[in-house]
Amino acid sequence: MNKYPIMTAEEAVQFIHHGDHVGFSGFTPAGCPKAVPAALARKAENEQAKGNPFNIGMFTGASTGDSIDGTLARAHAIRFRTPYQSNIDLRNAINSREAPYFDMHLSHLAQSLRYGFLGKVDAAIIEAADITDSGEIIPTCGVGITPTICRLADRIIIELNSKHPKSLRGMHDIYEPADPPHREGIPIYKPSDRAGVPYVKVDPSKIMAVVETQQENEGGNFTPVDDVTAKIGDNVASFLVNEVKAGRIPASFLPIQSGVGNIANAVLGAMGKNTNIPVFEIYTEVIQDAVIGLMKEERVKFASGCSLTVSNQVMDEIYADLNFFRDKILLRPQEISNHPEVIRRLGLITINTALEADIFGNINSTHVVGTKMMNGIGGSGDFTRNAYLSVFTTPSVAKGTNISAIVPMVSHHDHSEHSVSILITEQGIADLRGTSPTQRAQRIIENCAHPEYRQLLYDYLKLGNGHTPHQLKASFAFHHAFNETKDMHKTDWTRYL
Ligand code: COA
Repeated sequence: MNKYPIMTAEEAVQFIHHGDHVGFSGFTPAGCPKAVPAALARKAENEQAKGNPFNIGMFTGASTGDSIDGTLARAHAIRFRTPYQSNIDLRNAINSREAPYFDMHLSHLAQSLRYGFLGKVDAAIIEAADITDSGEIIPTCGVGITPTICRLADRIIIELNSKHPKSLRGMHDIYEPADPPHREGIPIYKPSDRAGVPYVKVDPSKIMAVVETQQENEGGNFTPVDDVTAKIGDNVASFLVNEVKAGRIPASFLPIQSGVGNIANAVLGAMGKNTNIPVFEIYTEVIQDAVIGLMKEERVKFASGCSLTVSNQVMDEIYADLNFFRDKILLRPQEISNHPEVIRRLGLITINTALEADIFGNINSTHVVGTKMMNGIGGSGDFTRNAYLSVFTTPSVAKGTNISAIVPMVSHHDHSEHSVSILITEQGIADLRGTSPTQRAQRIIENCAHPEYRQLLYDYLKLGNGHTPHQLKASFAFHHAFNETKDMHKTDWTRYL
């Protein structure tokens, strides 16, 4: 540690230049640097005030904290950005097309960088709990693409954050696959298997600066479970119990992947409460608050993920009792937490959230009314396409009941009918396995659509013909009605006859 230059964040950003491609550690706000990106945003504003252009290309693990996406978006300093994001100011910059955004499957990012598909990585800004003189970095609570950007970058800036204990060493499993034609199998046969080493190894000569900080995670809180999310959770739990009873899920159960956000957090909570589901393991991308609660209740025995995306209060609880959690949590790069090979081998039950689903089982996870980016596809495609059983959940309506989440045709297409086994809303469960498009439509309308929209959807089905009975002129009528009146109830099929 003595061998690296200690600098302030303001001094360290001298190593980032206009036009650079910069990689950031972390995954969600967990594990993201904070002081250096905020200083970088100030540098961008100062340069721009002097009439000099200043912007950077950004590679992150997924969404970040406000110190990265928020400050850089507000400083108009984003030349391009990939992958997943969820910051309001960045979302606005993306939707106004000020910030070019490339949405991609999270498991693809590290290899796409290594293959050279996305250009060079000039610099990496990494949050660390510890660093040794030989260049072993101990990440904090989110790994993301850290090993790859550290290896590819010419220059590395470390944010050494003493809020995270050095004793985190041992809670990471860092493995980077070789590139084809030399790639071999990833030796993970159960969620707790380790494939790599507990640190990210870098060439010490690339470390240009160490910035010492003591900053909390920029974690948000989850909204409390309400009647709708509780009902969705109960429906998921009872569906899985029935699958075990029917022998389609082994009695010992299978590892769970659960998506991001409030609904996913509520679903896991409901699964934990249902004691007909055996104690289970998790192989997922983000480990949220509910998982930690279930570990303490001994309902979850192990969780492998890419990040501890928990509220600050839960983070403090974990660090206060690290000995309890040490053999129950493993954090890996997203290339491994989301790897199709491992997902298929372990037989994951995947549970992700849709913004909207259509009556034939296609899913839109990303675009509000077809045009505005919400967050991004994240890891949902990695998991859904390779699952043992892929489940999508969504409330049946949004914005009061003015939006039906079940529509004739999705207004943006992230996951196709071929990858979706089960759709669940607070209304009920549609099992889509082995069904034709019209059988799927019947189940989705009857079991998942909100009662206020069922007749409108049945009426749509009568307009079309063919194997998948669409009526293309009318297929976006729900969305047109919303754009014109802010209410999908006002859909009028007679306009399309
Ligand atoms: N049309 C327009 N808006 C909609 C909508 C629809 N069909 N369905 C939901 N919304 C709105 C809601 O009203 C809410 O808006 P608000 O914040 O203004 O109230 C927002 O979208 C969703 O919030 P919420 O209901 O709290 O859902 P969430 O926090 O569980 O997030 C997703 C849901 C789909 C946005 C989120 O899961 C996501 O980004 N998924 C894609 C990536 C992914 O699945 N990753 C997991 C891989 S591990």
